[in-house]
Amino acid sequence: MKVSVRTRRTFVAAAAAATMLTLAACGPGDSGEGDGGGDAGGDGGTTTVGFVAVGPEGAWRSANEQNIRDTFTTDAGYDLKYAPATNLDQKSQIDAFTSFVDEGVDVILLSATEGSGWEDSLTRAQEAEIPVILIDRGIEPDDDSLYVTRIAPDNIEVSKSVANWALETFPDGAKYFTLEGPAGVSVVNERNEGWDEVVGAESSFTKVGAQTANWSTDEAKSVVETVLKANNNDIDLIFAQNDEMGLGAALAIEEAGLTPGEDVKIATIDGTKGALEALSEGRLSFVAEYNPLFGDTAVEAVTSALEGADVDSYIIVPSTTFDSPEAATEALPDRKF
Ligand code: AHR
Repeated sequence: MKVSVRTRRTFVAAAAAATMLTLAACGPGDSGEGDGGGDAGGDGGTTTVGFVAVGPEGAWRSANEQNIRDTFTTDAGYDLKYAPATNLDQKSQIDAFTSFVDEGVDVILLSATEGSGWEDSLTRAQEAEIPVILIDRGIEPDDDSLYVTRIAPDNIEVSKSVANWALETFPDGAKYFTLEGPAGVSVVNERNEGWDEVVGAESSFTKVGAQTANWSTDEAKSVVETVLKANNNDIDLIFAQNDEMGLGAALAIEEAGLTPGEDVKIATIDGTKGALEALSEGRLSFVAEYNPLFGDTAVEAVTSALEGADVDSYIIVPSTTFDSPEAATEALPDRKF
């Protein structure tokens, strides 16, 4: 799935084709612009951006969506229409997407709560000459002819960094359990793919099991409580696919009378303040950042797409890792999310 620069292409190519169609349909007198979008900044230069967002879902999501909203400002020439999902429900996202297409916005940003089920919506946007940019989440099956670009850190490489740390930390192997995000979300599959590519190949590592805890601290706590009981506390490592779930695992380990970081080590993905604080205290053992602050990159992609310039179909946002309390303590003062 992931390549650093997949294909350079221009949105215009597809748009031009659709324009011809529209113009043909509308007849001589009518430009067709304004009817179903594509009129980037036609009205005095303001670019209307429809943001089909996820909404409340934890610290990472809040940081990412706030960063997008703080970047696409009116001062910068944007009219950002923020449409968070209702209770993470995909139908509410598809409804918002459809109304943005009908309204004729200039560009759509999409953070999909579910990977599958977007073909029809994306095709409609394409026919309406509205470029779509995926924010963080991918679509499945991944058909990059249906969108301009995806902007996100590289989930497979981020997850591999956690797996490589696990191999170094447990040279004789380990019994581990994976806390996954919600089923059907692209990043969950990508993070499993990266982890399995590294740890899956190691016979000394035993997978006790995996279960979704829906990015939630409370759900992760109860899942890990059950896993510890079922295994007589004989678990060496928890791989939590996000920080909130890792913090839930730490609570469960403490409630079992064990010490997180010593009896059971926890590795997480995201890199939020709460996780770095827990790492600085030794309650977490490794945190791989999944950088949410890429609003500026999104503005560049929107500008390029609307100008018909080349846009990489996958723009990878750089991320780092934290493997010690010292590294976390050092990063905390300037942490923005
Ligand atoms: O899609 C990214 C994931 O969504 C983050 O890792 C998680 O915290 C968020 O809810």
